[in-house]
Amino acid sequence: MPRQSPSGKFKRAKARHLLFTTGPNTLSRGRLFKKHFDQSIELKEIEIASPSWPSAFDNLRVGHVSDFHLGDLMPLDRALGAIELLATQEPDIVVCTGDVVDLYVDGAMPLLDALANINAPLGTMLVLGNHDELDCSRTLTSMAQRSGVRLLRDATFDIRHNGDSLSIAGIDWAKTSKQCRVKVEKVCNKETHLLLSHNPKAFKAASEMGIPLTLSGHTHGGQLALPRRRGANLAVTQRYTAGTYARGDSRLFVTVGVGAWFPLRVNCPAEVAVITATSN
Ligand SMILES: [Fe+2]
Repeated sequence: MPRQSPSGKFKRAKARHLLFTTGPNTLSRGRLFKKHFDQSIELKEIEIASPSWPSAFDNLRVGHVSDFHLGDLMPLDRALGAIELLATQEPDIVVCTGDVVDLYVDGAMPLLDALANINAPLGTMLVLGNHDELDCSRTLTSMAQRSGVRLLRDATFDIRHNGDSLSIAGIDWAKTSKQCRVKVEKVCNKETHLLLSHNPKAFKAASEMGIPLTLSGHTHGGQLALPRRRGANLAVTQRYTAGTYARGDSRLFVTVGVGAWFPLRVNCPAEVAVITATSN
């Protein structure tokens, strides 16, 4: 498959990576990366209740991972360790809300294979994040298809179980609330139960459409937060940065993610999440 030529965005991301990641690590003689890798990835278990969640899928256990940023700050073995941690929880379904890779898509295949191989009866779903589009999203799309992960690119998928269905929608990366709204309104409908969107800015439109649950990543919880105040963090351009939010009957969960785009996390440990979704 012909590769996309490097975009301006890709070149800028590479420059940022040098400035905030590899450069400081070299200056610290490798200590920054070592300290970063010494931090463990935590398991977060939460229950989210929305009155509009379909009762036929009460207590559905959703394994939610996001923002691996496979690359210098996320070697493959660390990513596979996080996936193994999630697999031990035996979720009913696995969702990944994007930024599988940091810069280069090469090397993502074993990660996608591992996600697909989690023994979740309802399968593994994926949406792409902004970093997944930097190098070659076409290559990543083809890798996801080969792995068996179901990639939802402005698409929906219905899960049938005992005659009931759970309607899942997934949208590609959109930067602004307005751009998110266009995608949500195009892809979702009144029957959508679960929206996967890398950008949590989709939540406003999702809640106005009455979608019971939206799962997002992207913010990394700012990576630096005040002690015991995860909402007070560096993700200043986002309204929804970490944890659970409500608008009417709709709920949003923003995971702080597995990886990082600079080698520092303070009061904001990396996580994999298991969400139990209920209607009451
Ligand atoms: Fe990210």
